[in-house]
Amino acid sequence: YPLFLRAGSNIKAEISALPDQYNYSPDMVFDGIEQALKAGVNKFLLFGLPAEKDPLGSDAYSPDGIIQQGLLAIKDRYGDSVYLITDICLCEYTSHGHCGILDGHYVHNDQTLEYLAKIAVSHAQAGADMVAPSDMMDGRVAAIRQALDEHGFINMPIMSYAVKYASAFYGPFRVAAASAPSFGDRKTYQMDCHNVKEALKEAKLDEQEGADIVMVKPALAYLDVIKAVAAHTNLPVAAYSVSGEYAMIKAAAKAGLIDEYGVMCESAVAVFRAGADILISYYAKELAQAM
Ligand code: PBG
Repeated sequence: YPLFLRAGSNIKAEISALPDQYNYSPDMVFDGIEQALKAGVNKFLLFGLPAEKDPLGSDAYSPDGIIQQGLLAIKDRYGDSVYLITDICLCEYTSHGHCGILDGHYVHNDQTLEYLAKIAVSHAQAGADMVAPSDMMDGRVAAIRQALDEHGFINMPIMSYAVKYASAFYGPFRVAAASAPSFGDRKTYQMDCHNVKEALKEAKLDEQEGADIVMVKPALAYLDVIKAVAAHTNLPVAAYSVSGEYAMIKAAAKAGLIDEYGVMCESAVAVFRAGADILISYYAKELAQAM
């Protein structure tokens, strides 16, 4: 279940683009966790909104960063009864909103790897159980694996956003995380929706680099990709039913056009039927309760 942490205190603010989803400050996140635990969900994917953004995304790897604060607070209260997965990316932390370090108007792939590795180690030190790189730089799984091992986190698993398309379905998330790029788009590092062969290449590379789980994202418009990746990898396959998928169901249900529960269930079943082993969903609580 994705959870959004926001710097500050006493904040529980509904995300305008994602009905029933909230930004929580670290002192309020327990509210979101309690509700999920009650519904039978104890695995969380954490995203952060820092107090300040800068060109190098410093908050992402600061010991006092928003994710680090959240990890410490949550682990302090819940220990191993919750499983915390952190998003490894720079876009929520950079003033320009791109997923890496800029070189002119391009993201510099190899320079970004050092930063991603630093973020992963910093999250591990603050108590993360698993890291999930979503930046789409080439070679980042290997870079993160090496850095984690060097710092003693040899057992820390990596769930790689191996197959992440440049998608309009991320729109509501970018409102939630205030992470829309200030210029250009993410098409030099995220994938082209026409291309399924590249999905197999990306999944294979990440597997070779040491990923423990490969993810396909978005989910519903990419069921064929989930199926193809599941057939080509021996790793567990996760599918991320992203913000736009959730927002569409919510909006159509609110307009009285569809049955929310039925569409939610059918969409989730489709993702598993296509071959996913793990589903990341804003409906995690409702799905865990569904019959
Ligand atoms: C960060 C990231 C994004 C999402 C997950 N991690 C946004 C993006 O790439 O623009 C999207 C999740 C969603 O839409 O629910 N790179």
